[in-house]
Amino acid sequence: MTASLAAVVLCAGKGTRMKSEKAKVLHPILGKPLCAYPLMRALELGASPVVSVVGHQAEEVERSIRAHFPTAPLRFALQKEQRGTADAVRSAESALKDFNGRVLILYGDVPLVRSETLAALAAAHEKGGGVLSLVSTVPADPTGYGRVIREMGKVVRIVEHKDATPEQRQVRECNAGIYLVESSFLWKALANIRSSNAQGEFYLTDLVEMAAAQGPVASIEAEFGETAGVNDRVELAARAKELQSRINTWHMRNGVTLADPATTYIEEGVAIGSDTELGPMVTLSGATVVGRNVSIGQGCVVHASSVADGTTVKPYTVLEEARVGERCILGPFSRLRPGTDLAEEVHLGNFVETKKARLGRGSKANHLAYLGDAKIGSKVNVGAGTITCNYDGVNKHVTELGDGVFIGSDTQLVAPVKVGDGAYVGAGTTVTKDVPSGSLAVSRTPQVNLEGWVERKKARMAKSSETGSSKSDKASAG
Ligand code: UD1
Ligand code: MG
Repeated sequence: MTASLAAVVLCAGKGTRMKSEKAKVLHPILGKPLCAYPLMRALELGASPVVSVVGHQAEEVERSIRAHFPTAPLRFALQKEQRGTADAVRSAESALKDFNGRVLILYGDVPLVRSETLAALAAAHEKGGGVLSLVSTVPADPTGYGRVIREMGKVVRIVEHKDATPEQRQVRECNAGIYLVESSFLWKALANIRSSNAQGEFYLTDLVEMAAAQGPVASIEAEFGETAGVNDRVELAARAKELQSRINTWHMRNGVTLADPATTYIEEGVAIGSDTELGPMVTLSGATVVGRNVSIGQGCVVHASSVADGTTVKPYTVLEEARVGERCILGPFSRLRPGTDLAEEVHLGNFVETKKARLGRGSKANHLAYLGDAKIGSKVNVGAGTITCNYDGVNKHVTELGDGVFIGSDTQLVAPVKVGDGAYVGAGTTVTKDVPSGSLAVSRTPQVNLEGWVERKKARMAKSSETGSSKSDKASAG
């Protein structure tokens, strides 16, 4: 039987160097708050419960975390004053009163830790059989980090940079701040930590010496890039770039072509099928699912939408909470707003906006249209400049177009209104009444041709300019 696992994620810090009104852990990195990443990793590992220690802007941080993980086994603990990392973990004790097992400790501002690394830590802990295991790393410049002190190869303690002797500062192996600790040891040991050190803080790292006195402290080494935190916005951008590159590489290895990975933004959690191609400057965010053999052109933004196999999305098209069926052709410059639902082989062209609009198989709106609150059947042709007048200033109303309907250019459909199967609407019509199936609706002022009108106008203009010039002649003579 594997031991049960809980996690504590430290999210109490203010992050002074961010120079922000917003708590550091809420600053977004590829669409999610910083602290969502370590929380996701803990949840992936099966940790339950996962306790976030909050302090600075506690309410906002808690609200944001709950919103991101609505169904996760979350708990929250408040650290009133920031008195050090040991004090932060200790604040989680009452939230884990009923828990017995292993506690994974992560920092809320370290977003790039990989699940594989945490799984390796768990395996090393299991094998070592001690009460505490940790992740170490070798940064290019170890200044500021806690040093991992070993005797005969075994971890004996961690010494913080500020407390270290010049000799200890020569050590390049540093503490990454990721630990796995037996709860039976953790709470008792935390109660014995004192703040008699260079920073007057309660150091979580003091646990290591206490654990080493009881048995082996297992360690695994991770790449520095994975363990690097965020202290300012330059580091935020650097971690985001690294994450972007990691996600993009993963999709490319999975069979997705990225024309320019450096400008492609794909959030964690987006799924993309093989042989799909993404142009430069494409953003895929939220719970987006893209099928196979899809082409998404330059500059498209796709948020929380699904795009089925074989669809082509031409450049600069924006989708938000839309569902697109197979083999559709969208764009360039289409805008699909929430509630857009397209069946197979639908075509939406340039400057076509849809909202809460369902279009059946093979229907087309190729140029300049607004289709809002619309139920459109299959094989419908919506002409250029067609607009659903769905809003009367108070309420939204539905427009229904049956199968095979033909809507002429520059039509206004004043909802609520229905056009029956196979009906035609003449160009320029303002449709205010239902159109029965199979009929033609036209509402236009009859056209009048005034023959010879141009010649007569020219003659009038010539005459008036003659009299006008004789007047100005007089004026200049006077
Ligand atoms: C810590 C480690 C150090 C390690 C380094 C790796 C200690 C004493 N030292 O140092 O060995 O090399 O991380 O990055 O742990 N926090 C709270 N409440 C507090 C204090 C901190 O929630 O009272 C949170 C911070 O918001 C941050 C994390 O804990 O997310 C780490 O705290 P920080 O002060 O940055 O520790 P370091 O000095 O970097
Ligand atoms: Mg730090």
